[in-house]
Amino acid sequence: PDPLADYDLSRPIDTRFGLRQGLTAYGDAHFSLFLRKAFIKAAGYGEDALSRKVIGIINTGSGYNPCHANVPQLVDAVKRGVQLAGGLPIEFPTISLHESFASPTSMYLRNLLSMDTEEMIMAQPMDACIAIGGCDKTVPAQLMGAISANRPTFPLVTGPMMPGSHRGKRIGACTDCRNNFAAYRAGVIDIEEIAAVNNELVPTAGTCGVMGTASTMACITVALGLMPLEGASAPAVSSARLRVAEETGRLAVASVSDQYRPQNILSRESFLNAITVLQAIGGSTNAVVHLMAIVNRHPAVAGSITLDTFDEIGRKTPLLVDLKPSGDNYMNDFHNAGGMTALLHRLRPLLHLSALTITGQTLGAVLDNAPTHEFAFSREIIRPLADPLYPASSIVVLRGNLTPGGAVIKASASKDPRLLKHTGPAVVFANTEDLALRIDDPALDVTPDSVLVLQGIGPIGHPGMPEAGLIPIPRKLGARGVQDMLRISDGRMSGTAGGTIVLHVSPESALPESVLGVVRDGDLVRCDVEERLLVLEVPEEEIARRVAERKSRSGQVVKRRGYRGLYERSVNQAEDGADFDFLAAAGPP
Ligand code: FES
Ligand code: MG
Repeated sequence: PDPLADYDLSRPIDTRFGLRQGLTAYGDAHFSLFLRKAFIKAAGYGEDALSRKVIGIINTGSGYNPCHANVPQLVDAVKRGVQLAGGLPIEFPTISLHESFASPTSMYLRNLLSMDTEEMIMAQPMDACIAIGGCDKTVPAQLMGAISANRPTFPLVTGPMMPGSHRGKRIGACTDCRNNFAAYRAGVIDIEEIAAVNNELVPTAGTCGVMGTASTMACITVALGLMPLEGASAPAVSSARLRVAEETGRLAVASVSDQYRPQNILSRESFLNAITVLQAIGGSTNAVVHLMAIVNRHPAVAGSITLDTFDEIGRKTPLLVDLKPSGDNYMNDFHNAGGMTALLHRLRPLLHLSALTITGQTLGAVLDNAPTHEFAFSREIIRPLADPLYPASSIVVLRGNLTPGGAVIKASASKDPRLLKHTGPAVVFANTEDLALRIDDPALDVTPDSVLVLQGIGPIGHPGMPEAGLIPIPRKLGARGVQDMLRISDGRMSGTAGGTIVLHVSPESALPESVLGVVRDGDLVRCDVEERLLVLEVPEEEIARRVAERKSRSGQVVKRRGYRGLYERSVNQAEDGADFDFLAAAGPP
């Protein structure tokens, strides 16, 4: 390329992507380009570098985010891949969210991260982008932002952590965090032991090593066709992970064209494949909310997929992957058993093979080229269709007068399948404080047949819809050996948790029209997973009377400032993805 071409200010500005792209508005386009060149040279780039395709690399590393602790090495490997393919990599930050360090919840900030991602991809000159992330909310936020920005964007997850070891048994975040803490709470293990466990739960960098939300979203990203097959499961600390990073860099340079814009790669079929994988891996219920938000960012797909789509696909999709919390193993086992390559081969009859991928090939062609011999031994971890871990519908959508907008239950994670068809009297908690105060009270009027109902943890009620849906078993029942009860809320549950737990009840109790908001102690609640029902067994006139009474009591809503105010005014319900209404697809950007 002519090294002086970019100084030839008589040439039209928009002749190519890269550093001429989207010039900052000073009112004089040539001067804007001149300034941009001056400042990019301050970074030490020569004319040859500046003539290359620019690949932006989103760095979500942070001292607060051990799930992203390997991002610096991944950035190095991505840059190598970009440069080997002849591109110019330019790294930039967006905000970083870790599950344990984001208050009140990381979900409260997911939409902010998605806005940050979208706006930074749009604002800065780049031909394509690689989005590095991994912890639960990061991948969904990046997908939401990337689809809306609609510039070619390649997700690269940080990868799962390795399991640790305690007294000869493998342990890992975070299913074992919960099991062990519950054992400590019940007095089964002592303070020394729980401290030893604490040292081993998160033994390496990377995302939670079970089929929690992070692993689920990684698998879904592969199913959507946006990441190489081995990209979901290669451990964070493995050389395989670095090779995926290098490959992603190479792919990004090769894919700078309209064909690779997310809205062009992703179709309704891509999302149906993602939902099939979600059901087959026994994935996190959080992924239902995230996928709805992601779908609703895509103008051509929004509206054609609803909660009911998840249920329909679930009915024909068996659970094949034996990972905690539905099963017994860890993500590195899944990787060694062939990971997504093996799983997608198994699922082939259920997939839409014509869906496109970032390789430029269809999913079917990608699978045809992917070796199958390596996972011939993996029947334990990744079951054949004919011998599943759970026959179908690991995630079920419930409806009924208690949840007109729908609710979700991970039936495969129930610890007492009797409860999947159960009617019992409600024990109602108004919010998490009320729950904390009374759940272990020896005087609490509760039996193993009671239905624990927690209000006030929906998207608005407790901003960010906390993962408090795993209501603890009252201590006095736990001491008698009760391990599971039917539990219902408008909140979420960690993908690493299990139990008979109905989540995402909508409309949430904070809304005046909510039926969940008027459930009272002793009301009979019926859940029938087979029939897909969640019913408040109270006469409709009585429900209407209670709702009307509650509406008349609800006073003036306080209008808050800042992000919290924006959040409260804009967040939609779980079945729509708990996105901000103004970010969803309808309307020009
Ligand atoms: Fe980051 Fe679990 S805390 S993935
Ligand atoms: Mg989680």
